[in-house]
Amino acid sequence: MSELLRIDHISKRFGDFYANRDISLTFEEGEIHTLLGENGAGKSTLMNILAGLYQPSEGKIFLRGKEVRIESPSQAVNLGIGMVHQHFMLVDAMTVFENIILGDRKAGGIFIDREARRREIEELASKYGFQVQLDRQITEISVGEQQRVEILKALYRGAGLLILDEPTAALTDIEVEGLFQVIERLKKEGKSIIFISHKMREVLHISDRITILRQGEAVRTVGRGEMDAQQLANLMIGRELSESHYGKHTENKKTVAVLEHVSYHKKSRHNGLSDISMNIHAGEIIGIAGVDGNGQTQLAQLLTGVIRPEEGTLDLKETRVAAFDPLLFIRKGTAHVPEDRNLQGLLSDMSIADNIVLKRTESPRFSAGNGLFLKKRAISEYAREMVEKYDIRCRSVDQDVRSLSGGNQQKVILARELESGPDLLVVAHPTRGLDIGATRFVRDQMISARDRGVGVVLISADFDEILEMSDRILVLFEGKIMGEYSGVNPPIKEISLAMTGKGEEGRQNEKK
Ligand SMILES: Nc1ncnc2c1ncn2[C@@H]1O[C@H](COP(=O)(O)OP(=O)(O)OP(=O)(O)O)[C@@H](O)[C@H]1O
Ligand SMILES: [Mg+2]
Repeated sequence: MSELLRIDHISKRFGDFYANRDISLTFEEGEIHTLLGENGAGKSTLMNILAGLYQPSEGKIFLRGKEVRIESPSQAVNLGIGMVHQHFMLVDAMTVFENIILGDRKAGGIFIDREARRREIEELASKYGFQVQLDRQITEISVGEQQRVEILKALYRGAGLLILDEPTAALTDIEVEGLFQVIERLKKEGKSIIFISHKMREVLHISDRITILRQGEAVRTVGRGEMDAQQLANLMIGRELSESHYGKHTENKKTVAVLEHVSYHKKSRHNGLSDISMNIHAGEIIGIAGVDGNGQTQLAQLLTGVIRPEEGTLDLKETRVAAFDPLLFIRKGTAHVPEDRNLQGLLSDMSIADNIVLKRTESPRFSAGNGLFLKKRAISEYAREMVEKYDIRCRSVDQDVRSLSGGNQQKVILARELESGPDLLVVAHPTRGLDIGATRFVRDQMISARDRGVGVVLISADFDEILEMSDRILVLFEGKIMGEYSGVNPPIKEISLAMTGKGEEGRQNEKK
């Protein structure tokens, strides 16, 4: 193998903070090279340097032995470096096709041969086995599909080095398999891949080499098979992490929420709910298992007052809900960790402290006169407490949330929602993008919320997470509940079947 890219003593400072410190690494042609590290270790920063978004404070970059300066994203593209970012950068208001050709050199003239472009993209897509709908708006397609669009866009621009920053965080197992096939194919063509993921199983499966970053420094690079998951984890966090095992709660207690025959956009297979009845008890975790896009989003929105049911009723703490309004739901003790932290979770131009107290500015603890005068000092102190407790890696609570690493942004939402003293907690994909240490911590927090009597609805695309955490498991498929299972020794096969629509209900229908 020959060397494609070499970074030489690269450092990146923000103020006097080193996000990357003196990193030297090589990336070979036809290599899948993984970066592994805790939230905030400096992975995205290093990749943003290669993608031309940041300039290194020190150090040099060599492409095929020749020193290069990557001063802008378009220059990175010219050099054959493509990056799929941790938070996608597609333009929502445009179609898939428009996004792919956006900023394309070939399309630079006044007369763009759209038909030729289309054919080219379609050929590329079929070569890699991508199914994309070129004329759909970005908002109309699933996260998995958006990601294929990002990759396609990079390939279309001729990337020889493809950087994938946590591409699997929001994908289902099947989609991950598909992505890995594409990665293997790219590798066979001699392209180089830099892969970032917190999922150890994936990392061990796909990587030729793994570099571990810790607090901005590259601590070690290992080859395939050199280390197992435990060893890698220890190296990554600098301490040992024991196995976790949570006890289950199974006795019925009082209910915090009851849904009866609730329907919403019943006809829509992917964005609706059809005749949903369920009880959520105090002190239990209900896991909602299922492939993303089978009504999970709508269920969460309904339980938090964002949408109102078209049919059926919702009771919160034994009172029928008449007005569906997120603010009212918060006042009634509902907390929500949303699936899209950028859109619904955080105000990224605001500070960590302001985000942490965002929904509690009327509380006498943080303001006088019902939110008129904010008690800055009390807010800062509380925020510092939360930063400590949730291990949010930052320099100050006054820092913009935008400048936090992806995983640390997630911790800000979790701190705000879990600490709001809710009766009902609706969490979607709580550990998506978190490193193994942070994942453990967040799961421990959800368990202790349950033990305090909170009713928790856990929506997760991570089946292992559902199995590990849930006292009861409901399977959602095309907006319907396909089955209900105990979380104690759950029948894994049966649940997996139900997730594809072939569960208990399917069988009952056959009998009829
Ligand atoms: N624009 C910025 N201004 C200030 N600090 C920044 C900026 N971008 C990143 N940082 C800091 O640099 C550090 C590394 O962040 P980076 O996003 O590279 O982490 P990461 O390894 O990708 O983490 P994650 O797994 O959570 O995505 C963090 O402490 C982050 O707060
Ligand atoms: Mg990152």
